[in-house]
Amino acid sequence: MDVRERVVLITGASSGIGRELARQLAGRGARVALLARTADRLRALAAEIDPTGPRAIAVPADVADRAAVDAAVSATVSHFGRLDCLVNAAGVGYFGEVARMPMDAFDRVVKTNVYGVVNCVQAALPHLRERRGMIVNVSSGLAKRALPFLTAYAGTKSMLNGLSDGMRLELRRHRIHVLNYCAPETDTEMAAHTLHEPGAEMPPVRRGRPVGRVAARIVRAMEAERREVVEDPMFAIMGVLAPRLLDSIFYRVMVKRYARD
Ligand SMILES: NC(=O)c1ccc[n+]([C@@H]2O[C@H](COP(=O)([O-])OP(=O)(O)OC[C@H]3O[C@@H](n4cnc5c(N)ncnc54)[C@H](OP(=O)(O)O)[C@@H]3O)[C@@H](O)[C@H]2O)c1
Repeated sequence: MDVRERVVLITGASSGIGRELARQLAGRGARVALLARTADRLRALAAEIDPTGPRAIAVPADVADRAAVDAAVSATVSHFGRLDCLVNAAGVGYFGEVARMPMDAFDRVVKTNVYGVVNCVQAALPHLRERRGMIVNVSSGLAKRALPFLTAYAGTKSMLNGLSDGMRLELRRHRIHVLNYCAPETDTEMAAHTLHEPGAEMPPVRRGRPVGRVAARIVRAMEAERREVVEDPMFAIMGVLAPRLLDSIFYRVMVKRYARD
C-alpha cells in the first residue's frame, strides 16, 4: 500500500509506537487521525505534524468505549472524507501473577487490548470496505510465548494474533488487508504505564529497540502488505524446538527473581 494521501486512524497515538508511527506516516504523505485518551498530547502531536491543521487531527477516545470510538471514527471521516487504514496500537500491560491479579486490572487489560481492537475494527469497517483498506494490529512477541508475570498481557496479545489471522480471511472478500505486527521490546513509556501488582512494579525496559526503528519497520510492512511480522522470534522458535529448556530459562530469569512468596 502506498501510504501517500491515505487517511490513517492510529490508536495509541499519544505515546510510544503509535505516536512515532503517526509522525513517520505523516512524513511519507499520509493524513492522520490521532486517537488515545490524553487529548492534550494528541493536540500537541497534531500541531507538530501539521501546524495548519488539515493533515492531522486529534480524535480523543477510550478504545474500550464503543460510543467514543464511533464518535472518533465519525470525526475522522467528516474531516478527511474517508478512512483508508486503521492502526490498533493502543495497549496496556500488566506485571504480576495471574493468581493474585485484581479483576479490575484484568478487566482494564482485556478491555483495552482485545475489546478495544474489536471496537475500533467494527467502527471503522464500513469505511474501510469502501476504500479496500488496511488494518494493522500491533501485537507482541510475547503473543507467541508468554513470559511469567506478563502472562495476562501476553494472553491478550495471543488473542489479538488469533483475531488478526481470522479477520484476515473474513475480510479478504472485501479486499481489506490485515497486518499483524508482533513488536519487539521497544523503548517507550510502556513500562511506566503498565499496571502492576502492589509491590511488583515492572522493571524498566533496558534493551528496548529505538521506537523510531520499530515504527519504520511497521511502515515498511504496511507498504509491502505483509501479513505478519514477528520481531525477535527466538522465544517463539525455542518454544517449539526446546520448550522445556525455555521453561527453565524463564523460571530462573523471571520467577526466581520476582516471585514474592
Ligand atoms: N514497548 C514495548 O516493549 C512493546 C512490545 C511489544 C508490543 N507493544 C505494544 O505496542 C503498542 C504500543 O505500546 P507502547 O510501547 O507505545 O506503549 P505506551 O508508550 O505506553 O503507549 C500506549 C498507548 O496506548 C494508549 N492507550 C492505552 N489505553 C488506552 C485506552 N483505553 N484507549 C485509548 N488509548 C489507550 C496510550 O494513550 P493514553 O494513555 O493517552 O490513552 C498510549 O498512547 C501496545 O499495544 C503494546 O502492547 C509494546
